[in-house]
Formats: sequence, C-alpha cells, structure tokens
Amino acid sequence: MKFFVDTADTAAIADLNALGMVDGVTTNPSLILKSGRDILEVTREICEMVEGPVSAEVVATEADAMITEGRKLAAIAPNIAVKLPLTWDGLKACRMLTDEGHMVNVTLCFSANQALLAAKAGATFISPFIGRLDDINLDGMELIADIRTIYDNYGFETQILAASIRSVNHVTVAARIGADVATLPPEVLRKLAFHPLTDKGLETFLSDWAKTGQSIL
Ligand code: E4P
Repeated sequence: MKFFVDTADTAAIADLNALGMVDGVTTNPSLILKSGRDILEVTREICEMVEGPVSAEVVATEADAMITEGRKLAAIAPNIAVKLPLTWDGLKACRMLTDEGHMVNVTLCFSANQALLAAKAGATFISPFIGRLDDINLDGMELIADIRTIYDNYGFETQILAASIRSVNHVTVAARIGADVATLPPEVLRKLAFHPLTDKGLETFLSDWAKTGQSIL
C-alpha cells in the first residue's frame, strides 16, 4: 500500500519524507487554507520535496474552467495530479485532462457508481471519503470493498486512494481490502507506529539493561 500524506504543511511532509514514508501528497482547499500559504507557491514547494504524485484541487465548478485551472496546476510540476470533484463537469474535465496526459485524482467520491464513472472517465486515482461516510453512520469501508470488487471485475486501472482517513484502524482495514493508496493526516501516519505493549516492553528491557551495568559502546 502506498502512503500519501494529506496535508499542505511542508514541515510535516519533510519530517515524514526523511523516513521514506511519503509516496505522494494530497491537498484540498481546506488544507491550503490551514497552511496559510499561496496555493501555487506551496504546491510547487511540495512537488520539489516529494517525487510521487501531489494532488492539487481545482475550485471551478464548470468543466471548461476546471480544465483551465487543471492545466495551470499541472504546469507546476510533472508530478501534479489534478484533483477534480465527482460531478458531471468534473468527469468531463477528467476525460480531457487524462487524454492530455495529466494525472487526475477524482475526489469527493461517496458511492460505488461514482467510482465506476471516474474509472470510465480515465481517472488515475479515485478518492472515496471513508471518514465522512462514517460521520453520517454509513460504512466507509464497505464502499472501499465495493469499489475494489468492481474495479477488479472489469480490470480498471484507476487506483483506489482511501481518503478522509481518521484512525489507524481505517488504515488496517483499507489495506486488508486492497486499497492501492491511503492518504493520511501526518498525525495518523505517526500513530501507526504506536502500540502500548511496545512501550511497556521497551521500558522493561531498558530497566533490566540498567541492572546489568553493561554498556554497548
Ligand atoms: C484527501 O484527498 C481528502 O481531501 C481528505 O482526505 C479529506 O479528509 P477529511 O474528510 O478529513 O477532510
């Protein structure tokens, strides 16, 4: 499973990137707002830091304007994935930008049928939002599983990018189902390494080691 980092915080990206954990980055207008940075400037900086796909989202809602914005974003760097919302205009822009050779991430996906349409429009990535479905008492993981089955049934190459991940359990289940990518907020990615028994075990080992009076160096 590839890990993308779901943030426009360049310090957080640099920190995780140094560990080789960052296969790509996803941003959205809310994350740009949170960063307090100019979208073109911060996206360029992220593209220079990370080799993998960096999703940058259009804000136009009509296909022609989405295409114009998408081309401008794609011109920032070769590793830009233009992020488009799952509307008919977004699908139209997806087809055009894909045919021009750009990577496209179709976002705000909440149903298997929407995912089917994105694959047929040639999307590189489909982003089903797990957490936001859970928020309204629907099962986000059931959606990931449905999309996996449908894409495999027909051999679609669109990659399933599990988005709106809120917990470490989301990562485990999405990986078990076979999502190609998970985009994680930095704090969730860091939490993947945590287990209370690891901490407890380390404490015991260190205390026993101190009693030996030895030193490795
Ligand atoms: C990423 O591509 C999505 O925009 C993001 O994961 C949405 O997450 P949220 O539902 O926590 O805002």
